[in-house]
Amino acid sequence: MENFRFYAPTYFAFGKGSEKSVGELVKRFGGSKVLLHFGGGSIKRNGVFDAVTASLKEYGIPYVELGGVLPNPRSGLVYEGIDLCRKEGIDFILAVGGGSTIDSAKAIAAGVPYEGDFWDYYSKGIPVTEALPVGTVLTIAAAGSEGSPDTVITHENGMLKRGGTGEALRPKFSVLNPEYTCTLPPYQTACGITDIMVHVIERYFTNTKDVEITDRLCEAVLQAMIEEAPKVIANLNDYEARANIMWSGMVAHNNIVGVGRAQDWASHNIEHELSALYDCAHGAGLAVICPAWMTYVYKHDVNRFAQFAVRVWHCDMNFANPEITALEGIARFRSFLKSIGMPLNFAELGAKEEDIPAMVKTMGLGEDGTIGGFVSLGNKDVDAIYRLAL
Ligand code: NZQ
Ligand code: ZN
Repeated sequence: MENFRFYAPTYFAFGKGSEKSVGELVKRFGGSKVLLHFGGGSIKRNGVFDAVTASLKEYGIPYVELGGVLPNPRSGLVYEGIDLCRKEGIDFILAVGGGSTIDSAKAIAAGVPYEGDFWDYYSKGIPVTEALPVGTVLTIAAAGSEGSPDTVITHENGMLKRGGTGEALRPKFSVLNPEYTCTLPPYQTACGITDIMVHVIERYFTNTKDVEITDRLCEAVLQAMIEEAPKVIANLNDYEARANIMWSGMVAHNNIVGVGRAQDWASHNIEHELSALYDCAHGAGLAVICPAWMTYVYKHDVNRFAQFAVRVWHCDMNFANPEITALEGIARFRSFLKSIGMPLNFAELGAKEEDIPAMVKTMGLGEDGTIGGFVSLGNKDVDAIYRLAL
């Protein structure tokens, strides 16, 4: 196991009625005037907006509203939010919604005290060390932004989708009431489950040896998803399944399952080009890319893929030919994704073969021209992975 430091100081309030504590939590973490940030209106339809504003009023906390965050959030609203916060003297940002709203809130939080263009954090990879405090009320189990230091924004100039990060961006608190996720339609629910699983997979496929504890934690989250997903797809109001999935989304991405090991993240980078270009759901893009990535790289460490197959998917180990087991694990992952309604290829996603060269070109490869901590991939490899997903 590698050395690591881990500090993840988000305060969580989880369960039925937890949204009533929002006002108290904003006060506890020093907010006196709030930017209430949200998306396209789901929070007004399912009652969470009313519950949150009632709590803010109860604690005498003034707020300014900024709605309209799009899935795959854009830079334009971030610039607007930064100006609004400065003009109104906002000292706390409350994101009510999904990963897109939370990521937009984090971008505004980073941009307010920064003299330059907030996009520097995304285009140059500078870690965010100063930001307004952010709190979240989560309404979809997926991105894990409620416990992560990460934010992903699409710049409208060139439709570049890029990630930014910094410990200053970890939410001060996150309120998670699984009841509010019951209004998610099956497709969006399945996209979230896929994203959660791939967050674990990005960490699971590692070259670091002797990481039994985090291997086992990763396997536990994946198995929980395999158990809970069919229940919630069959009954969207299954509170207990929603609750298990919601907490899994946090556990999958606040890095408790990834410390002490090298991580991969190629699938995410490759997917971001799809959601930037086609505006598809991130989880759906991952369902297309991640199995293709697995097919392309499994030979790098057949035994790790066989372990994934046996421990996560309960495949029988073929000791004479572990490659067969490895491939069976990938096949079961694909079948699972299909069973919850995910697309598995470009055609099902609505993506086009002729766009592949452009996606490869715009992709933000690392400084050395590669991505991927498990297998290092260059342009030609990424091109080949897109083609495996056709
Ligand atoms: O905008 P509204 O009306 O709220 O509708 C949203 C949106 O259309 C809807 N929705 C959310 N909660 C709902 C609901 N509809 C009914 N009932 C509810 N309770 O769902 C749609 C998708 O919302 P979005 O916030 O986009 O989903 P998600 O949480 O999957 O976030 C996706 C974004 O997160 C980024 C992705 O790239 C993508 O841009 N990621 C962020 C990460 C991070 N910050 O750590 C890591 C992830 O890997 C990911 O890249
Ligand atoms: Zn993701």
